[in-house]
Amino acid sequence: MQTMNNNSHCTLSTISCFFLISFLFSCLAFGQLDYQFYDDTCPNLTKIVRYGVWSAISNETRMAASLLRLHFHDCIVNGCDGSVLLDDTNAMKGEKNVGGNRDSARGFEVIDDIKHDVEDACPGTVSCTDILTLAAREAVYLTGGPFWSVPLGRRDSKTANQNAAIEQIPSPSESLENITAKFTSKGLDVKDVVVLSGAHTIGFAQCATFKQRLFNFKGSNKPDPALDTSLLTNLQSQCPNQDSSDTKLSPLDPVTTNKFDNVYFKNLVNNSGILQSDQALMIDSKTSSMVNDYSKYPYMFYKDFKASMVKMANIGVLTGNNGEIRKNCRAVN
Ligand code: HEM
Ligand SMILES: *[C@@H]1O[C@H](CO)[C@@H](O)[C@H](O)[C@H]1NC(C)=O
Ligand SMILES: *[C@@H]1O[C@H](CO)[C@@H](O)[C@H](O)[C@H]1NC(C)=O
Ligand SMILES: *[C@@H]1O[C@H](CO)[C@@H](O)[C@H](O)[C@H]1NC(C)=O
Ligand SMILES: *[C@@H]1O[C@H](CO)[C@@H](O)[C@H](O)[C@H]1NC(C)=O
Repeated sequence: MQTMNNNSHCTLSTISCFFLISFLFSCLAFGQLDYQFYDDTCPNLTKIVRYGVWSAISNETRMAASLLRLHFHDCIVNGCDGSVLLDDTNAMKGEKNVGGNRDSARGFEVIDDIKHDVEDACPGTVSCTDILTLAAREAVYLTGGPFWSVPLGRRDSKTANQNAAIEQIPSPSESLENITAKFTSKGLDVKDVVVLSGAHTIGFAQCATFKQRLFNFKGSNKPDPALDTSLLTNLQSQCPNQDSSDTKLSPLDPVTTNKFDNVYFKNLVNNSGILQSDQALMIDSKTSSMVNDYSKYPYMFYKDFKASMVKMANIGVLTGNNGEIRKNCRAVN
């Protein structure tokens, strides 16, 4: 009898110990972010963001892609802190006007509109970067992609950094090695590069971002040999070899342009990636085997995409007393 009691005590404390340890681990794993962060202070937050993204997409389908990319450009430059949303001031050159963003990053007005509605419901409570993080999640879901839970509680930066944006936003003509280095410096890895590039299953690219592949690949005066010939012909007519075509748009996934699916990876298997950095995922055997898997198993892509999005959304977040809750996403308080 005595022994049994001791045993059950022992088991009980082992169980509570286990829960305590896993609780501590889950705190560590998400920094100080929390799935319930605004449950009491802004219970309608998700609904407000969903409605804002839904109405923006109803007006223009492409906005889903633009919001997803804006979230990436927020996170990859000094962490997810809303810095990409800040307008330039006399005292501070921000991130909006660097190469990868100027005349390219979109969705600022949508975030402003949602922020306005969120401020009406719960003033001074929700950060702009959390709104952008949620908006990206909704954008994926509303275009047919997976849904996942987002830990919240990020705070907004009090500054933005133009040089950091120049250095940290990847360029489509960079090598996979260099792009991967930019991701690993943020705690992401080569698998995240492959999985997150799957975001190019929606949205558009301006001809200038891939035109050299069509006419003068790496100074060869010839097209990129790694581009399917019938797609090449199409792209050459969409993007004629003149400066005036630079800003014309071409879909990143010409097959199912507005649907979040795994067709991007099928295209890569077919030599039909649009950006050089997309097709480059097929050169290296490690990344090409991932591409092959995702092209065959959409649910494997969805599962890994959700995990990589949560990882990306946790880069360098400001929590606690760091940063602030901006009143206006375009300016520090
Ligand atoms: C891996 C390195 C990456 C490179 C080199 C890259 C490069 C680009 C480029 C050049 C464009 C076209 C922009 C324009 O012409 O205005 C683009 C569009 C886009 N990118 Fe990426 N990207 C990368 C990773 C990502 C990631 C990680 C995401 C999100 C998770 C993402 C989401 C998007 C989306 C959705 C679009 C379409 C945007 C729109 O239509 O407004 N990209 N990307
Ligand atoms: C949440 O939205 C519902 C309507 O959808 C409204 O009745 C309710 O008052 C809102 N709650 C808060 C706390 O704003
Ligand atoms: C709707 O989309 C168009 C671009 O297609 C844009 O110019 C316009 O501002 C958008 N309207 C609203 C209300 O968001
Ligand atoms: C890769 O990065 C190195 C060092 O920053 C740079 O010198 C090189 O030009 C880059 N290569 C490509 C192809 O992007
Ligand atoms: C690309 O692959 C798909 C199957 O995944 C096939 O239906 C399609 O015809 C291929 N396209 C080209 C250009 O080879």
